[in-house]
Amino acid sequence: MKKYIITPGGPLKGEIRIPGDKSISHRAVMIGSIAEGETIVENFLISEDCLRTVECMRLMGTEIEFIDGNLKIKGKGLTGLSEPGNIRDVGNSGTTIRLLMGILSGQSFKATLTGDESIRRRPMGRVVEPLKKMGAVIHGRQKDTLAPLTVIGSKLKPIDYVLPIPSAQVKGAILLAGLYADGETSVVEREFTRDHTERMLEYFGAEIRRIDSKIILKGRPKLRGQRVNVPSDISSASYLLVAGTIVPDSEITLRDIGVNPGRTGIIEVIHRMGGNLEVMNERIVSNEPMADIKVKFSRLKAVELRGSLIPRIIDEIPAIAVAATQAIGKTVIKDAEELRLKESDRINTMVKELTRLGVKVEELKDGMIINGGAKLKSAVSRSYGDHRIAMAVTIAGLIAEGRVVMENVDCVDTSFPHFADTINKLSSKPLIEII
Ligand code: S3P
Repeated sequence: MKKYIITPGGPLKGEIRIPGDKSISHRAVMIGSIAEGETIVENFLISEDCLRTVECMRLMGTEIEFIDGNLKIKGKGLTGLSEPGNIRDVGNSGTTIRLLMGILSGQSFKATLTGDESIRRRPMGRVVEPLKKMGAVIHGRQKDTLAPLTVIGSKLKPIDYVLPIPSAQVKGAILLAGLYADGETSVVEREFTRDHTERMLEYFGAEIRRIDSKIILKGRPKLRGQRVNVPSDISSASYLLVAGTIVPDSEITLRDIGVNPGRTGIIEVIHRMGGNLEVMNERIVSNEPMADIKVKFSRLKAVELRGSLIPRIIDEIPAIAVAATQAIGKTVIKDAEELRLKESDRINTMVKELTRLGVKVEELKDGMIINGGAKLKSAVSRSYGDHRIAMAVTIAGLIAEGRVVMENVDCVDTSFPHFADTINKLSSKPLIEII
């Protein structure tokens, strides 16, 4: 397994474009596969997770080619997928398994999905329950709540569903299943979450509308293949945005970042912390908002983060926790118990790793309290196989008093291939060595 040896230093300076958005890349492959005609995906995220989705769709008969860095998908239409010849392994990808269950529910065949050890621990009942209400037949471990899961395609009926937890994956799975139901499927979300599924379905021609917190989709649409230009991933950008604010004298410009309103909490948090961050050149590309973001080294202050902001920063909390170690005052994060159900228990793993770096941090049931103004120590850190923990702690290593070793960084490839090279390119000397 690969490791990073992080030698503190800096500044980080320059202008870069980082890899494509993970959430949007998954959706482009799935929706492109069930649309009619050709879909071209530009700036597709070629990462472990997204390649699992490509493999799943290929196993159901979709022709997908990589041409000049773009993805070319020959759509099979809503009912053109075929029974896979084997069970499918989604690796570490929660988005693949959860969204795909929505599509599989409406097919005329049976398919079994499984994943790595982390996926087989993560809760799937939240998706299984509404899909069963639509008429899906799903069997799995622990009363159908854990993978491996077998989905027996069935005739689906529309439902009106109020999401018990804010989750774009659950919302997305129901909407994708709703494509196969006659009539209108609706999902109510009490807290706004990333609306990539809604935007992409609309872009491919589905009839979908939002009235306040309710999303309404008309079943059996004719989806037509499109050219999708994937913005760069704001969750991957968050490590660079935080690094830019905490590494002295840094100034980084990130081009073409996706600024979906369900994902921009990180920008609001850095602003509230007093960070020098500018959003420029906002535009809409392939029905998604995109912008350039410039960040500079800043004196940060502590903030309290809770409530409806949490789903909008859920993947960025590890990076935000690192920024909080350098802020003046105590940062409090609450209402974030969902973090315990991610690739690792991110409350527990972040608290452990920040403590190892010498930060005073208190674990709460639903979050953490981080004491700012910390001097970070040299340490041998663990990733727990979780890409976001690996990258957040690596960023912290850039301002530590001595070298930080981050063990087992293979997981970084699930979302941000060439992460270490990207950081190194922004510095006059290499800061991260991969061994
Ligand atoms: C995602 C939704 C979020 C997020 C995950 C990607 C998506 O998960 O944490 O990384 O692409 O829909 P939940 O739906 O479980 O909140």
